[in-house]
Amino acid sequence: MTGTLFPRPPRERTVVTPGAVHVPGWLTVGRQRELVEACRTWARGPVPVRHTALPGGGVMSVQTVCVGWHWQPYRYTRTADDVNGARVAEFPDWLVELGRTALVEAYGGHHGYTPDTALINFYDGTAKMGMHQDKEERSSAPVVSLSIGDTCVFRFGNTETRGRPYTDVELASGDLFVFGGPARFAYHGVPKVYPGTAEAATGMSDGRLNITLRETGLSGR
Ligand code: SIN
Ligand code: MN
Repeated sequence: MTGTLFPRPPRERTVVTPGAVHVPGWLTVGRQRELVEACRTWARGPVPVRHTALPGGGVMSVQTVCVGWHWQPYRYTRTADDVNGARVAEFPDWLVELGRTALVEAYGGHHGYTPDTALINFYDGTAKMGMHQDKEERSSAPVVSLSIGDTCVFRFGNTETRGRPYTDVELASGDLFVFGGPARFAYHGVPKVYPGTAEAATGMSDGRLNITLRETGLSGR
């Protein structure tokens, strides 16, 4: 009812901080479905999706599976030594292309962007992610983030501290968020997911899926 009386303004492309670009509704529903399917396949193996164990003894509330390189706190390896020892799935060419298309959308060019890892995070209605920097990569190439399913609050901050100043952005299904250049090492996190906001047509009837593409800057098979 509130939605009818007070319709939300259309969500527009926004430069949140220099280098950090939010493009709402970038992925078509068909593309979201394909990505959900691909993520379901990767979630089954060779390394199954799991709650990543933290060095302090706890586990992350999101569930994660990786492609190309396996991330664990706080390094990348080819094999998932903290899960089942298997080698992670190959990073497919079509995902490189998707990353390049995202950079063209965000910045007008991709400069040979060649992401070689994807971290796929699944959030149930209570999962969160604390403020952190993506800094295990040895490349300063941008991070491309794609969201499908439930809407969340994405908190995008500064490169100095976990705290303010930061901007809270709502990431909904199909949204693209890119952070590169001066924003590449900014702290960011997900303080809240809004359960029940997903649309079944995307293949995610509940929960939130986030895919981040990165260049690790690592070499070796
Ligand atoms: C991440 O910081 O790696 C994930 C961000 C998100 O889920 O939007
Ligand atoms: Mn991150």
